[in-house]
Amino acid sequence: MDYLRIAVTDRCNLRCFYCMPAEGIDYLPKKELMTYEEILRATSLFRDLGVNKVRITGGEPFLRKGLINFLKELKTIKGLEKVHITTNGVLTAQYIEDLKRIGIDGVNLSIDSIDKENFKKITRRDEFDNVFSCLQKLIEADIHTKLNVVVMKGKNEHEIPAIAELAKHRNIHVRFIEEMPFNGSDYSTSDIWNHQQIIHSLESNFKTIERDITPKNDPATLYQIKGHEGKIGVIPAFSRTFCGTCNRIRMTALGTIKNCLYDDGVLDIKQLMRTGEKDESIKSELMRISMQKAQNGHQAEAARKNTKVIGESMSTIGG
Ligand code: 5AD
Ligand code: SF4
Repeated sequence: MDYLRIAVTDRCNLRCFYCMPAEGIDYLPKKELMTYEEILRATSLFRDLGVNKVRITGGEPFLRKGLINFLKELKTIKGLEKVHITTNGVLTAQYIEDLKRIGIDGVNLSIDSIDKENFKKITRRDEFDNVFSCLQKLIEADIHTKLNVVVMKGKNEHEIPAIAELAKHRNIHVRFIEEMPFNGSDYSTSDIWNHQQIIHSLESNFKTIERDITPKNDPATLYQIKGHEGKIGVIPAFSRTFCGTCNRIRMTALGTIKNCLYDDGVLDIKQLMRTGEKDESIKSELMRISMQKAQNGHQAEAARKNTKVIGESMSTIGG
């Protein structure tokens, strides 16, 4: 465990249909969210246990006020080598200079369609222009950028080649992600456009595509299309073939610690903090749960206690 992902908000300004119902989800009162101070304290404790990289996630993390100052504070925690953010990009464009100034190490931007109308259908919001301008500004600012594209059967698989072309003249990673059944609906495996199908679509469109060296602990299998500046990634998020090398731990906006995206929470760190537990005792709890990490996401899913159908929104978990 050396990579901590932290969701800072449970809200989202999009309604991607694979993640949320059209009417949105019930948000908890603000006092249920971890405060920035609590998040910073938790991060330092994780750092003591070996975490050296954090990712701040949304939905749109900039829905939370004062995010830039918080990120600046995070950057001052000794021993944290990297601070990244993941965003849907709806509000991020205006903060890109600030992100550059504080030395953000990279931004992952979610964009499931580059067709304005299709984007609107998938996200149920007319925000394509804001998201695309966020991408342009990230490139201009020379911030290390990866695009996350969830591939949905019948919705955007026809756009795979065009979206892959975004990496032709841009030094970015374009990563196609298998859709995970996380919106409460009972999916069958045949509803998922899997990584083989994604790769097949890429290979039939780009004759010169080749496997590239995949960095350690990267859930994406990387590919290079000859002559393209950037790279293509494929993430088998549903098939879960990468779990053996997983180094992640997650903290939701409400302070639930998750060993795996697919588990239903293994510790409530907010409660430990608010009942006055000392650093050492919280750290030993974190140690204890990290030893219990399931071997893979299938096991984590099977061990869920609360619900077998995963109804959580990614806006709370942070992806
Ligand atoms: N399946 C796959 N990826 C998802 N994400 C959100 N929900 C799902 C899902 N059901 C991705 C978003 C974003 C990241 C936070 O998680 O596209 O890139
Ligand atoms: Fe879409 Fe991400 Fe918001 Fe969910 S959290 S609605 S996937 S942008």
